Amino acid sequence: MLTGNEIREKFIEFFMQKQHKHFESASLIPDDPTLLLTVAGMVPFKPYFLGQKEAPYPRVTTYQKCIRTNDLENVGRTARHHTFFEMLGNFSFGDYFKEEAIAWSWEFVTEVLKLDKDKLWVTVFTTDDEAERIWIEKCNFPKERIVRMGESENWWSAGPTGSCGPCSEIHVDLGVQYGGDENSKIGDEGTDNRFIEIWNLVFTEWNRMEDGSLEPLPKKNIDTGAGLERIAAVVQGKPNNFETDLLFPILEEAARITGSQYGKNPETNFSLKVITDHARAVTFLVNDGVIPSNEGRGYILRRILRRAVRHGRLLGYKELFMYKMVDKVVERFEVAYPDLKKNLENIRKIVKIEEEKFSNTLDQGIQLVNQEIDNLLVNGKNKLDGEVSFKLYDTYGFPYELTEEIAEERGVTVLREEFEAKMEEQKEKARSAREVVMEKGQDSFIEDFYDKHGVTKFTGYEKTEDEATLLSSREAKDGKYLLIFDKTPFYAESGGQVGDQGRIYSDNFSAKVLDVQKQKDIFIHTVEIEKGSAEENKTYKLEVNLLRRLDTAKNHTATHLLHKALREVVGTHVQQAGSLVDPDKLRFDFSHYEAVTAEQLAKIENIVNEKIREGIDVVVSHHSIEEAKNLGAMMLFGDKYGEVVRVVDVPGFSTELCGGTHIDNIAKIGLFKIVSEG
Ligand code: ALA
Repeated sequence: MLTGNEIREKFIEFFMQKQHKHFESASLIPDDPTLLLTVAGMVPFKPYFLGQKEAPYPRVTTYQKCIRTNDLENVGRTARHHTFFEMLGNFSFGDYFKEEAIAWSWEFVTEVLKLDKDKLWVTVFTTDDEAERIWIEKCNFPKERIVRMGESENWWSAGPTGSCGPCSEIHVDLGVQYGGDENSKIGDEGTDNRFIEIWNLVFTEWNRMEDGSLEPLPKKNIDTGAGLERIAAVVQGKPNNFETDLLFPILEEAARITGSQYGKNPETNFSLKVITDHARAVTFLVNDGVIPSNEGRGYILRRILRRAVRHGRLLGYKELFMYKMVDKVVERFEVAYPDLKKNLENIRKIVKIEEEKFSNTLDQGIQLVNQEIDNLLVNGKNKLDGEVSFKLYDTYGFPYELTEEIAEERGVTVLREEFEAKMEEQKEKARSAREVVMEKGQDSFIEDFYDKHGVTKFTGYEKTEDEATLLSSREAKDGKYLLIFDKTPFYAESGGQVGDQGRIYSDNFSAKVLDVQKQKDIFIHTVEIEKGSAEENKTYKLEVNLLRRLDTAKNHTATHLLHKALREVVGTHVQQAGSLVDPDKLRFDFSHYEAVTAEQLAKIENIVNEKIREGIDVVVSHHSIEEAKNLGAMMLFGDKYGEVVRVVDVPGFSTELCGGTHIDNIAKIGLFKIVSEG
């Protein structure tokens, strides 16, 4: 009987023998602003499928960490739902196509996994005669066990637009004891637990456009995905994924800690499975740098962790336990994911703090929900309105999904639309508060300007004085003017660094530059005119206040040193969340789960000051984003970087993508002093 680890290894080995390059699993945080999490093995390869980038190898194979939370409430209830799972895959980027993909999957399933051929079924897309022919001719597959299915089953895409195509799935028939009768086939009612999909072969040859139409991709590709947990269950003859050797030791640990017994009753099984699945998801998410929060992937992590904690309570266990589960997960998965071991202490710590926080509010929250439900039921009602669920969420920090789950268990429906309307209302309030700050009407002006003149050429990396032609002058508030030139040495506020100040003048004109902002890479100088008036199409001298620029540059370079020292002292999970760099000071915002101690602050200060004394030259260079990644450059998540990026390097210490202005040698920083931390 193959173990989970062996199946993973054999899969990779098999495809390496077929000239595939093995890539390590990419992070659960995708390098893709359209996705919160890595949901399939193909996610890291999207640009190759779309032909936006040349694939480094035509054939690749991976076992990829994935998370899907669309069916969260089913996880634990069913035999095969997970949040975290591993997807085995082989990929062709314009290389082989249907024939090889089908033949190799067949070879692997029947000769390596040695599954019983008579129990296998195959589906193909309604019109895919070619795939059906290959199954019959190349694999000798019996036609009567090939089922044609439509878009909902046999068409795969990662999202509403982008690469996609028809697919063909391999299923295993677990037998009549799981539903149906001797004549049942895939898709028949009541056979969902009987026919188990183990491998999806996607023939990725289309690009879905915004308007819904399909355009052929530049090349035909293959994307396949086989769920490791399902395959393990089938190979090991287990009725559900949780009883495979991948997950059962974790489940046993959950039972041991909470003092419960698996197999005793359905409720206990449900809770143990939830904890098992979620312990794995939480461990891997935190390992990849996700920190619990109220937004985006941080909120997904929080939801998963809280759901697990709640199921601990359902088992009658009130102590903290999830952070202990981390040990078991790491023990089981460090072979395939060695970085887990390195981060173990940090993962435990982050999980424990979040668990602690939640436990404190949980008892109170559950009581409140139940009170609300009691009130309803007494009054003969069974619908919880948005007002109540929003108050629980907003005032008590009680997750909406838990309200919903508890309510459902007591036969009460929560009116989700009402809750969502309340959420939207709150967001709208925040939004309109922000909008007041922004100048209205600016946007259409910028659009028009851009169409006519394009972007401003920035010359400020090379010089702090330049001559430029004025393209636009407009009066702004308080008698100030907004000037735009064809080029400028003035740095516009970005990346936390404030805009330059200085002077703009000609023989009969003089103005003080107070601030520079940019929109769509058009640099807008806010000035106070001292003499004359600014005339479009005339040439002016632009002079940056050099001292102020240099002071700012010192603080900016120091920000990079601080960032690096912080990661060394506090941990690599530290994520930059924002920064402010001006001539007088710098402020660095980052995410961390507790206050930085005085000792740590002293250590950070020392590291930075020692570096400064080494007097290292700062090196600025330009690279493709891939090269920059290989250099280990730190990038901010969510930033949209162009194809060619600017890398600011303090050799041997810090490497960051950055558009800011820096000093040429770090000795010029002088002294670095942390004056406050909050
Ligand atoms: N990308 C395909 C899937 O996730 C293989 O099913």
